[in-house]
Amino acid sequence: MAKVYGVGFPFHNHSSVYIENGKIIYAIEDDKMMRTKTPWIWGWTSGTSLNAIEDATGVLLEDADYIGIGDFNLVHSYYNSFNVREYNEQYKKDIVNQLLKIKKSTAKVLYYPHHDCHAAAAYYLSGFEKALVVSMDGGNGEHELGTIQLGNGLDMHRVHTLDMHTNSNSLATIWYYSCPKFGFVGNKDEGKIMGMAGHGNYNERLMNGFRSLVTYNKGHLTFSPTTHDYLYEWFFDQLEREGWFETEQGKADVAFAMQSHLEETMVQYLADVAERYPDYRNICFAGGLFANVKMNQIINEMGCFDNIFVTPGMGDESIAMGAAILASLEAGDWKPYKLENAFLGFSYNGDQIEAEAAKYDLTKIDFDYKVVAELLNEGKILGLYQGRFEWGPRALGSRSIMVRATDPGTHEMLNERLKRNEIMPFAPFVMGEEAHNIFHIEGSEHTAEFMTICYTCKDEWIEKIPAVIHRVDNTGRPQIVRKHSNSVFWNILNEYNKISGIPVLLNTSFNAHGEPINVYPDQVFKHLDDGVVDYLVTEYGIYSKIEKNEDESND
Ligand SMILES: [Fe+2]
Repeated sequence: MAKVYGVGFPFHNHSSVYIENGKIIYAIEDDKMMRTKTPWIWGWTSGTSLNAIEDATGVLLEDADYIGIGDFNLVHSYYNSFNVREYNEQYKKDIVNQLLKIKKSTAKVLYYPHHDCHAAAAYYLSGFEKALVVSMDGGNGEHELGTIQLGNGLDMHRVHTLDMHTNSNSLATIWYYSCPKFGFVGNKDEGKIMGMAGHGNYNERLMNGFRSLVTYNKGHLTFSPTTHDYLYEWFFDQLEREGWFETEQGKADVAFAMQSHLEETMVQYLADVAERYPDYRNICFAGGLFANVKMNQIINEMGCFDNIFVTPGMGDESIAMGAAILASLEAGDWKPYKLENAFLGFSYNGDQIEAEAAKYDLTKIDFDYKVVAELLNEGKILGLYQGRFEWGPRALGSRSIMVRATDPGTHEMLNERLKRNEIMPFAPFVMGEEAHNIFHIEGSEHTAEFMTICYTCKDEWIEKIPAVIHRVDNTGRPQIVRKHSNSVFWNILNEYNKISGIPVLLNTSFNAHGEPINVYPDQVFKHLDDGVVDYLVTEYGIYSKIEKNEDESND
């Protein structure tokens, strides 16, 4: 019956996790607490998230029974080489503070490799009794790009490692290096390239170029041994010289080749993995590469696996999560478990919400599912702020903007309103009972509760929900919503379905451009005041701005 902290020192997505008696109590990312959405948060591992969890639980890190630490090597490898890095001094201070706290503790301190943490955060939350576990990313302090592990009951162990120096190159790193050429930020905007891919055309020269960077060598479970990171940069410089990034079509063609190459390579790799371990019909994924929901769809449709599960915090959020789970296992507390929902952050009470509401001139009506459904049916933009916020990058019903999915012009309207430049269509959330009628669902429904996979929309629904379906390939990235695990979202869908006959709504994260998902009450009331949303829906009331007449508003 142990108190367990999981912390990690990866390059980015620093997080903290607290598990007590084998139950995940909190899993929180630093960037959400700090309100900076920077892709590389050097030096902030000291963790606002850790301090916040300590405050909430009253359990200090040094008083825990076990501390699981993921990717500790980075501290060693980068501590002394940060002279040129931004946040250098702060980074060093934070690391030292963390280490002093850990040193002061009487806890049993356990260290886990980066990819073992990724794998643990996938397998031990999947609910599978037996599964292959594949982790893949752009690399880390241990110079590993991925692992294959076998999970059986509470046991999970490695059977293969993709090693950065000896036998592998990273598919994820290709995407990272491409971002600046598209005008994007690496480690943040890769999803936009995935969105652009749908608008591109096949080009043999591009495909062969990417194949020359990373090719799967069947039978060896390795990737091309010949290239290095600098060749990726050289390759993209060459494409730039050839003019591929000068037009939107050129960019889309490059994106198409990148996505095709990624899918082609992963299908080859995983078909081989499946053939080697034919007793394993389920597969779990973690690591930044699996943020690519289109690739996840292709893998799901390969037919090699009955179910895939992508952990909701698939990026390096899963380092702290995996470290905490592995330490909890070591403590003898962890039991087979299926993650019900990702609501592992903080919630705020009615008094805190009222205190913020009082700062503005607002109308308030009682919370009522029917009222929410009516407003959605009228085409209003609603910000939903309720319960504990989500673990991982997706808004799943605690901090979501909701809009009806029936208008083709919603994509442009929302981009303008939210000052975003989303290329991928906005995602639908769908009543679990109806999901099979709307999408061609090929297993993996559990992972779809966390919006980590695309499915193809059934023909008869494409025109009914155009705001959430990709116009080129008719796919969507649905969040399947269950009453037992996500009751507020489910009830909203249910009431809206009664009025409209459509058990689908559009869900996007509740935040303004460039911010992490909203956490604190002041942020959501500010967004209501700024006109980001028409209504703010909380469990304590539905708020809107008092309408001014035209003369006043023109003043
Ligand atoms: Fe990673």
